[in-house]
Amino acid sequence: MRQFDGKTIFVTGGAGFIGSAVIRYLLDHTGAGVVNIDKLTYAANLASIPQAPGHRRYEFAKTDICNAAQLRALFERHQPHALMNLAAESHVDRSIDGPGEFIQTNVVGTFTVLQEALRYWHTLGAARRAEFRLLHVSTDEVYGSLGADGLFTEDTPYEPSSPYSASKASSDHLVRAWYKTYGLPTIVTNCSNNYGPFHFPEKLIPHMIIKGLAEETLPVYGDGQNVRDWLYVEDHARALALVVERGSVGATYNIGARNERSNMQVVEMICDLLDQMTPSRNGLRRRLIGFVEDRQGHDRRYGIDASKIEQELGWRSRETFETGLEKTVKWYLDNRSWWRSIIERGYDGKRIGLGRPRAEVASNINA
Ligand code: NAD
Ligand code: TYD
Repeated sequence: MRQFDGKTIFVTGGAGFIGSAVIRYLLDHTGAGVVNIDKLTYAANLASIPQAPGHRRYEFAKTDICNAAQLRALFERHQPHALMNLAAESHVDRSIDGPGEFIQTNVVGTFTVLQEALRYWHTLGAARRAEFRLLHVSTDEVYGSLGADGLFTEDTPYEPSSPYSASKASSDHLVRAWYKTYGLPTIVTNCSNNYGPFHFPEKLIPHMIIKGLAEETLPVYGDGQNVRDWLYVEDHARALALVVERGSVGATYNIGARNERSNMQVVEMICDLLDQMTPSRNGLRRRLIGFVEDRQGHDRRYGIDASKIEQELGWRSRETFETGLEKTVKWYLDNRSWWRSIIERGYDGKRIGLGRPRAEVASNINA
């Protein structure tokens, strides 16, 4: 028997970076029926699930998770065994310029998913009710910034810095409250920075690959010594499926692969991989690295202690950062049509997140 044979799983945000990796995993490696619930924002791309068109275990519903009536109809029609909540606004720089969408989708949307899941859960018989799981996918950014030492554990207090991480922290609190108050069988995962194929080009790694290919300046924020802990997206998707299958109800699992690197190290590795795979006549790509104004509220360091998921569920990352980054750079070279279509739709790669809200406040005060 395959994992999830005969089960139906809702994946919200299934057209996004991680959600699409989860759906590819479920279709390719399990027997699950998948309903992809996605509003199709700028970050969505249905082409990220190449096996989906015509797949007999896949259905797509263009739905906003803030729309309770549409969610209710989907629950009634499909009677899912689990819901994996990955729908979110996910980019810190965008949250600095426009936090409203983050509060709407990440907080109000998660609230709406919880309410509709609870309503549906109450309609189930005892066995199905015991089986149901709601997995909420969150981030290590809720824990704030680390100093030089230490790692985030599941018990680290929340101390978010950005509108994005504050909205994710709020949603995590809601999910845990729905478990404690109503008994809804929820689980929360907090993962580190993901990377891999089908990543929207505004995020560090694809941003630098595409700019490096075009031989444009590689904009490193601040001093480039901020540290992120990198997790290959397919390792993450496999972890999430395992948590739905075997995770403890009410628990939290941190997910990371022990791959801390400074942003400078990451950008230099990308330059070197590009030079190996597609050398430039104009010289080494490292010449393109340039330092630019820092991000406001920029967290210095993230690092995940993943021993709980490793010991309790036996999960291990398969990719090292070296193997995963090489695969990723190669994927962007081999799949130019995927990211060129995003540029053709209007993504211009310009710097964002330099703090328009402050100006808005100032002009309101003056008015
Ligand atoms: P993404 O931005 O690539 O995709 C988000 C998806 O959600 C898109 O397809 C979008 O259309 C959809 N969406 C947005 N608002 C919606 C709404 N109101 N209703 C329905 N769908 C909506 O994000 P991602 O990188 O795939 O992240 C998925 C989850 O993982 C998020 O909750 C994010 O906070 C979390 N996370 C991401 C990372 C990372 O490195 N990418 C790290 C830690 C945690
Ligand atoms: P990002 O991919 O936006 O993820 P997050 O902010 O959620 O960690 O950024 C990763 C790191 O890279 C972060 O420290 C900011 C930095 N960064 C740059 O230096 N230059 C860039 O152009 C981008 C997009 C990010």
